[in-house]
Amino acid sequence: MIVTVANRKGGVGKTATAQALGAGLIKRGYKVLYIDLDSQSNLTNALGIDSRTIEASSLEVLEGSSNASEAIISTDRGDILPASPDLAKADRIIEGTGSEYRLKEELQNIAGRYDFIIIDTPPALGILVINALTASEKVIIPAQADLYSLQGIEQLYGAVETVRRYTNKSLTIAGVLLTRYTPRSIISQDMKSNLSDLAEQIGSKLYQAQIREGVAVREAQATQTDILTYDPKSNPASDYEAFIKEFLEEATK
Ligand SMILES: Nc1ncnc2c1ncn2[C@@H]1O[C@H](COP(=O)(O)OP(=O)(O)O)[C@@H](O)[C@H]1O
Ligand SMILES: [Mg+2]
Repeated sequence: MIVTVANRKGGVGKTATAQALGAGLIKRGYKVLYIDLDSQSNLTNALGIDSRTIEASSLEVLEGSSNASEAIISTDRGDILPASPDLAKADRIIEGTGSEYRLKEELQNIAGRYDFIIIDTPPALGILVINALTASEKVIIPAQADLYSLQGIEQLYGAVETVRRYTNKSLTIAGVLLTRYTPRSIISQDMKSNLSDLAEQIGSKLYQAQIREGVAVREAQATQTDILTYDPKSNPASDYEAFIKEFLEEATK
């Protein structure tokens, strides 16, 4: 199954969610491939890879100058098709007829080797996100309890509708995941019900699991570990475990 993690807003926990989900699936024995489409290379770095030293990145694969099998790097915490800073130029480089399908075509050759392919995306709704959504069966939308996250979801939904119309009829929104949550704040409570309403409006749902704010997430990223390994007892780790359970119940139904 190919899953994209996306939101038009940055800093909402897309990368943290992609990494925690992957780590949880690997822990359960699934074969996982991460694909990093963000020029900031946060996920690539979190797996201990220096994006300046790699030979071929997801960009070369999308351009067609490398293939996925060559570019994938195996780490002890999963396989990754890494990002490079040059992905920032993707909208200028990847163009022309069929450019939305580049990732999908490339993944057809290797999808059989993996149970789950998790695509981490940049906030900009350009050719990279369109490629991710075109290749995916499901999209997970991480969102914070704030107004900009709501706007980010609406903008992403516009892209989801376009992709459904033109390149991937069967794309579904698996759910909206509340991240960086501080339960005691009143604003958070209000926003949570707004998020839940919006999730229904876009034909999806708010996951019951909600990921609380916790320093362990940042520390895990800084020490190039995943949150589930770094501090399994932390709030965000147990919340991500609950999310992964919920995700898997749907995915394996
Ligand atoms: N649950 C959380 N608690 C605390 N910090 C978090 C949490 N989730 C993410 N962060 C931090 O917030 C920042 C943005 O998260 P990130 O996953 O990189 O977002 P995005 O990929 O959407 O830009 C990072 O510094 C990350 O460590
Ligand atoms: Mg990110």
